[in-house]
This record gives sequence, structure tokens and C-alpha cells, in this order.
Amino acid sequence: MSLVELYSKGTRVWLPDTLEIWQGGVLTAGYQEGAKELTVTLESGEVRTLRIRDAGRDLPPLRNPDILTGENNLTSLSYLNEAEVLHNLRIRFLERRTIYTYCGIVLVALNPYQDVPIYDDTVILAYSGCEDVGSALEPHVFGVAEQAFNHMSVFGQNQSIIVSGESGSGKTVNARYTLRYLATVASAATASVGDVGGGGGNGGAGDDFHYSQIEDRILASNPILEAFGNAKTTRNDNSSRFGKYIQIAFAASQISHASIRTYLLEKSRVVTQASNERNYHIFYQLCSTEDASLGLSSPDNFQYLSGGQCWTVDNVSDADELSVTRTAFRTLGLTEDDEWSLFTILAAILHLGNVSIHPGESSESSAIAASDPGLSAACDLLKIDQEQLRTWLVHRRIVTVGEQLIKPFTVDEAVNARDAVAKFMYACVFHWLVALINKALERRSQQQKQKTELSHCLPFVGILDIYGFEIFQVNSFEQFCINYANEKLQQQFNIHVFKLEQQIYVSEEIDWSFIEFTDNQPCIELIEAKLGILDLLDEECKMVRGSDSNWLQKMQRTLGKSRHYDTPKIGSRDCFIVRHFAEPVAYTVHGFLEKNRDAVYEDLLSIVRASEVDFFSRLFSGGGVAEPAGAAGSAGGRGRATSNPGAYFKDIAPTGRSAQQPPQQQQKFSRQTVANQFKQSLTDLMDTLSKTNPHFIRCIKPNDAKAPFDLDSRRAVEQLRACGVLETVRISAAGFPSRWGYEEFYQRYRMLLRERLALSAKAAQLKAACVAILELGKWPTWRGCAASACTGPASPCSAATEAGCSGAATPEFAWPCCSLRHGRAEFLRDDAPLHCVGAGPLCACRLGGAECAPGAASNERAPPPHFRRRRAKRQLLQLRAEARDVANLRNKNFGLENRLIELHQRLDAQNAELEAGKAKQRQLEVSLHCC
Ligand SMILES: Nc1ncnc2c1ncn2[C@@H]1O[C@H](COP(=O)(O)OP(=O)(O)O)[C@@H](O)[C@H]1O
Ligand SMILES: [Mg+2]
Repeated sequence: MSLVELYSKGTRVWLPDTLEIWQGGVLTAGYQEGAKELTVTLESGEVRTLRIRDAGRDLPPLRNPDILTGENNLTSLSYLNEAEVLHNLRIRFLERRTIYTYCGIVLVALNPYQDVPIYDDTVILAYSGCEDVGSALEPHVFGVAEQAFNHMSVFGQNQSIIVSGESGSGKTVNARYTLRYLATVASAATASVGDVGGGGGNGGAGDDFHYSQIEDRILASNPILEAFGNAKTTRNDNSSRFGKYIQIAFAASQISHASIRTYLLEKSRVVTQASNERNYHIFYQLCSTEDASLGLSSPDNFQYLSGGQCWTVDNVSDADELSVTRTAFRTLGLTEDDEWSLFTILAAILHLGNVSIHPGESSESSAIAASDPGLSAACDLLKIDQEQLRTWLVHRRIVTVGEQLIKPFTVDEAVNARDAVAKFMYACVFHWLVALINKALERRSQQQKQKTELSHCLPFVGILDIYGFEIFQVNSFEQFCINYANEKLQQQFNIHVFKLEQQIYVSEEIDWSFIEFTDNQPCIELIEAKLGILDLLDEECKMVRGSDSNWLQKMQRTLGKSRHYDTPKIGSRDCFIVRHFAEPVAYTVHGFLEKNRDAVYEDLLSIVRASEVDFFSRLFSGGGVAEPAGAAGSAGGRGRATSNPGAYFKDIAPTGRSAQQPPQQQQKFSRQTVANQFKQSLTDLMDTLSKTNPHFIRCIKPNDAKAPFDLDSRRAVEQLRACGVLETVRISAAGFPSRWGYEEFYQRYRMLLRERLALSAKAAQLKAACVAILELGKWPTWRGCAASACTGPASPCSAATEAGCSGAATPEFAWPCCSLRHGRAEFLRDDAPLHCVGAGPLCACRLGGAECAPGAASNERAPPPHFRRRRAKRQLLQLRAEARDVANLRNKNFGLENRLIELHQRLDAQNAELEAGKAKQRQLEVSLHCC
């Protein structure tokens, strides 16, 4: 049967809709090959005539029968297209209140905007150690974490969990739960070998778990990073303004150590916020103390906290949050003294923002009053020279050959200079904290330290929580960097999905032709290649008279012919368009050069670096990552600089002179631009990710009003397109999108078989039974039209629907041997290995993997002894949960029972008819014989 033959009268299809994006309908007449029109009756009753061009290639997407709706894994749908993905997510989310769904190797997570009771320790236990987490249990972020953890434990391979999605979609929440899952299962492992680390045990995850020190510290890093790196935006009350990759290394299933890398902190927020947005949470937390010694009071008294005219967050107490932050500081070993030092800098930043800069004697100059309260408060706190700061905030030094000129700043220039120092100081604090966290997450015991050289051998699970693709009304440098990062991540994703597809076909011995996918390499080259956008930007930044508009002109001259570069035909002239994989985005060039240079005048830097407080001086000198006095295991105590400070200060200006050097020697910057450093850090990240086995979580923000369990189809489709879920579907659909094991396939279509085989096929006969089903399609070879069976009114798929499908595809989880392509089934060659997909083979595969290399495997690779205990506990809890769910099951079974009864009745009627026919035949034969 050809594809067009599926479009018979009564076939259910999807039509594009302006409001709902897709609307269901039924063909009023069958489609004839070559016909130019198709008539569809929509669910609303409206009859619509579609024009069909392109020799039937633009026929509307087909709908699956309702019984298939709401599958755990979308790849088990017979027809896999955008409309079906959306429809299934909608039904699962709105009707079943299920927020997670697998789409092949991707876990799609919809933000419920409401607490859902699916994250407690009983649920962790249910997933922990589950042998077939992808198909035995509901899709869940814990399922992904378990797959990663298990894969790492058994095969010793590094894993990464990549969480992406737009702002407010739930990345940080899901990353947090992933982290908690890993900490919890690791703590169970620790407890089972009777080696609970000292100092921990806050029991944060409940009675069953007592975290060891390292687990406590990993969990404590979250509130700190969120206090200093998150802020309220219009999209999310707790929006992360930096990217984060945390790597947790395991030894014998216990956490050995961890490290965190951060990406591109949004520094501009320190000095300015958009309407109804806030600065970083920590400032408001600090103001809640109204500490007189720091000169702190209500946040509306500070310029830097008033840009968005928003000082509070609904349902959040900044005072309570401060105590959470401080508790986390203690857990990480930060002393009260060091904490006080950090708070002093933060308070000084706020006072600096209140420094009033007014016009000077000429229009080209500016000045600050000697009695400015902001200035004196900032200088008192930082212990720096007030007169020096007052002078160099409004002047700059120009060094030419053999002479020095002092030039006044205009008011705007002086404000910029002041803000640059504030941003610089905040970035220093943030990176110092990241360094502190990394220090605290290092190995502690002597024995562990001895193994440090071997640390790279320990397998790890990395969790990446990074900003998703962004399109605003006005898109600037930040959006450009974020979208560039997403372009790189998407490429990794494509390559991985694509590679995986090919691997499956090879291992299943499927005869296939090369699958094409949209490679976004040309777009990446447009951005990062020589004479690409970033290169030209850096060139322009080096020019004395460089400007945003000059850069735009150069781009137009050099890149105008690129398919991925464009300029707006109407509207703003200071924009350029990049055709990203998700969507074209128009960027406004204004501010690109300044943000890319991120320059701080050296005269000002030298003043803050000359602080009388040793800690501040070193912190602002880039090498000031004083090892915190109380940090566990610190050898030198307070005041000792690290040997490699540069590593901690990746994205701040590290090459300025030290506080002792005279200012005039250091007028030139020899530092990297922000874009260049970002490019480098992305390259490193991609390099790390490419050496791991990736798992993908795509978070979707279902509506902009943050309404609980509400789905705006337009917004959902936008994000599904942007985060690559539909690209996965497209890549899969180009190959064999739907996959079943023989068992599953047989269960789904067995009703098509007339004989008793349909009811009693044993494992050994499964393959023959599947072949028989496919042969019903009367294909000359092993090809059959299995999918058309699904479009019939009574699709036989009871058990398959209940059982769901295998989860994320990983090469060693042998995929089922039967694949559907564009609705057609292609059966595997007869000599292909028969895998019965289910817990058995999957388990065997895992154990096989572990047994394969007993010599090479260290004890870290062997299944840990606590597994059995965990498994038993999990089974018990699962049973309990199932018992609780009995009403739910009864409802489900009610429908299935009805269907089964209906089918049995139909079978009986047909058998009776057959028997009657046979009797009639016998009668006729007898009468013929008598004649
Ligand atoms: N699984 C979830 N359950 C309940 N609420 C959630 C969940 N995921 C996200 N949220 C809500 O959405 C908000 C934004 O989520 P967050 O993870 O901060 O978004 P992102 O990191 O993608 O910007 C959270 O503060 C929380 O209120
Ligand atoms: Mg976040």
C-alpha cells in the first residue's frame, strides 16, 4: 500500500489552524493520486477544501487512532508529526496531569506551575535501581537521572544530562531534582556500605537518607548560586542569569567529588534592570537585614535596586532566603568573617550606585560632590581612597608616546565608568564563590587526595542547566551569545540523534538509505569562523574609533551573501538578522561593542585593588581567591591565594596590573573580549559533552501567564520547534520513527490474525506471528502495511498501549526489530537477530555489559552491593503506589475491558458466520453429490 492510499474516505487528518495550530478533521472523500483537492470535515463541522500540490507530497498529516493517544513515548505512535506531538502532550498534560513524556531520546518536561507530588523519596526509591526505567515506569526526570547513573555505574562511561528550554520553562527546577536524585541514590550507596561521611546528615531528603558531607555541599551550592546568579524577570521570578554545568564524579556509586563551571553571568543586571524586574536576589536579601554598619536600608533607597521599580517577589521572603543562603555558606565551610567581607562588597556596590554624578564646569566634564554620601559609604566599606575614587570616576588618563593627558568624562561616560566598576566587583564576588564551591567539592580525605591524579578516571554525571533560545522584541548582545550557545548545543544534539539512528539501523541490519538532517554548521560558521560575526566584532572593538554602526556596515559587506545572514527589509536600519535553526532573529547592534569590550578603566581598577583589606585587594586583582578559612580541608587557611587563580576567573578581566603598580603603566588592556572568552568556554563545553553519553531534557513553558496546567498551543509549538524536539521527530521520521519489539508489535496487531495464533503465540512463534501480520498487507517481500491497521475503527493495540514503549535509545538497549517508515512497516531481514524487548533482554544486556570486562572493571563498575536492598525497597514502594493507584487502573481497565469484550463479540460473531457458511457449504456439497 502506498502512502496516498492511506488517504481513504473517513481517514482522520490534521489541518493547520490559526488558533490551535492544528485541528482534527475527517476526509469526506478519498484522495485519488494526482488529484488537486482534498475535502475535509473539521471537528467543528466546517467543511474545508484543501489544494494539493507537489504530487501529493503536501497531504495533511495523519492522525493516530484515539486509543494510541497519551503514549509515554511519542515514538510509539504510528504517525509521528508535529500535530501528533502537540496533541499527545496536550492530552497527557491537561487530562492526565502528566508533565513528562519521552520523545525518543528526549524527555519533554512541561512546567505545571503548581507543586506536583512526584518528587518525594518514595518516588526516588521507585526509580532507583529500576532495570527498565524507560518503559517500566512513567517518564520522569528521575528516570533520566537513573538511566545516566546506571549507565555510568555499569559501563563506567561519563554521562551528561542537558537541560534546556526558554526562561521559566523549568530547567533549574528539573536540574535541581536531578541533582537531588543523584545525591540521594549516592547517599543510599554510602549508607549501604556503612561509610557515612562526617559533618553531613541533614536528612534533607527525608528519613531514609542521610547525606554525607559532599552530598550536602553539592546541594548547598544551589541556594548560593541562585542567590547570587538568579533574579526576578518578567518571565520567571527566579530566573538564572548564567549557565551552569556541574560534574559529579562517582567512585563505587558514591560521590567522590564534584565541580561547577559557569557561563556568561549577566553583569548588566547589577546596574540596570528592565521594568518590573529585579537585581540579583542577594541584594534584597541583604537589605532585609537593614544593617546599620553596612549602611543598608530598604531596597528602594538604592539606585541599583530600583531600575525595574520592583523590590519584592510574590510569596518570597528575602529575610528567610538570606538565612537559607547563610546556612548554605556554613555547609560549604565559609566563615562568618568571609561572609561579612562578601556582604561588605555587596553593600559597597549599592552605595557606589548612589554616587551622584553631575555636569562639571564644561559640558564635556562631570563632577562628584566631596560630601557625596554614596561615595563616602562605598569608600569606607571598601577601605579605599575616597579622593582618588572621586577624581578617577570623572577623569581618564590617556598615555601617548612620552606624555600623559588627563581628560574629563562627560556625565554619561562617568556613569558608565562607575557602573563598570560595580559590575566588575560583582563578577569578582560571583567567581570567587564559584571557586569557593569548587574548593569545597574537591576530594577531602588523604586517600582521596592521593588519587587526585587519577580523578579524571572516575566516571561522572554532568548536568547542564543553560539558557534556552531567546527572542525578544529587542535582541542584544546577550541574546546573541545565548542563541549562539544554543546553536552549538543543537548541533551536538543533531549529531548525536543522527549518529544514534544510524547505529540502530546498523545493529538491526536494516537496509536503509542515508538520512538527511538540517546541519546548522553554516550558521555556526557565520558566527564563529574567520571574518564571521564575532571576528568582525572583535576587530571593531580594537579600533580607536570603532562603532556599532561601522561593525554593521562591515558585516553587510562581508557576510551579506550568506544564506544565514540578512538585514531587515523594513523597519530598523541598525539591525542584522541571523537565520538560526529555530527561527530568524533580528539583533539590534546598539551596545554590542561596549558589552563585548566590557572595559573597566585601569585607573579605577587600581584604586579598588589598592584596598587596605587584603581580602578585597586580592579578590579584585583576579588572583584573590583566598582559600576560605573554614573551608574543610583547606591547607593554608585564610589569606592563601590559589596557585592557579586564572582558572577561577575565566570571564573577568584578569590581566590588569596589581594594586602596587603605578596606574600609568597599565593603560592598555591586553584582555580577551567577552565574546571571545564565551566562544572558548563553549568550545570547552562542547568538547566535554562530546566525550559523554548525553541525555536530553527539553523543558517547555506551557503559557506565559504562569497559570497551572494550562497549555497555549502556539507557545508550545514555538518551543518544541526551537528546542529541537520537532527536529528529533523530523530526523526520526526520515528513518524509522516507530519501533516495536516483536512482542509489542504482536500484541498491538494480533487481532488482525484470524487463527488461534492470534491468541496464543509463544515467544518462539512471535516472529512468525509478526511476519504473518505483515503478510496480510500482501507485500512481495517482508514489507507490509501494518500501520494501516491502526487507522481502522478498532485498532488492536491494548497491551502495547498499556505497556508503553522502550525509553531513551542508547546503543546497548537493543531496539526492537520492527520499524515503521512513513506509516509503512518494514520488517527486518529474516537473519536479523531476534530481540524480545522487555525487562529480560534489557537486563541481560546490562549484566552482559558488566560481565564483559570483569578484569578491566574496577569495583566502581561492578553493581554495588546495596542494589538488591534498594531494588527490594523500590519494589515494595512500587507495590504500595500501585495499590494506591487502583482506582486509576480500574478506570483504565474499564475502557480496555470494554474494547476487549467488543472484539471478542465481533470474533464470536465472525466465527459463527464462518461456521454457518461452512455448514451451508457442506449442505451444498451434499446436495451436489446427491444430484
Ligand atoms: N516541575 C515543576 N513543578 C512545579 N513547579 C515548577 C516545576 N518546574 C518549574 N516550576 C515553576 O516554574 C518556575 C520557573 O522554573 P525554573 O526552573 O526557574 O525555570 P528556568 O530555569 O527554565 O528559567 C519555578 O520557580 C516554579 O515555580
Ligand atoms: Mg533557571
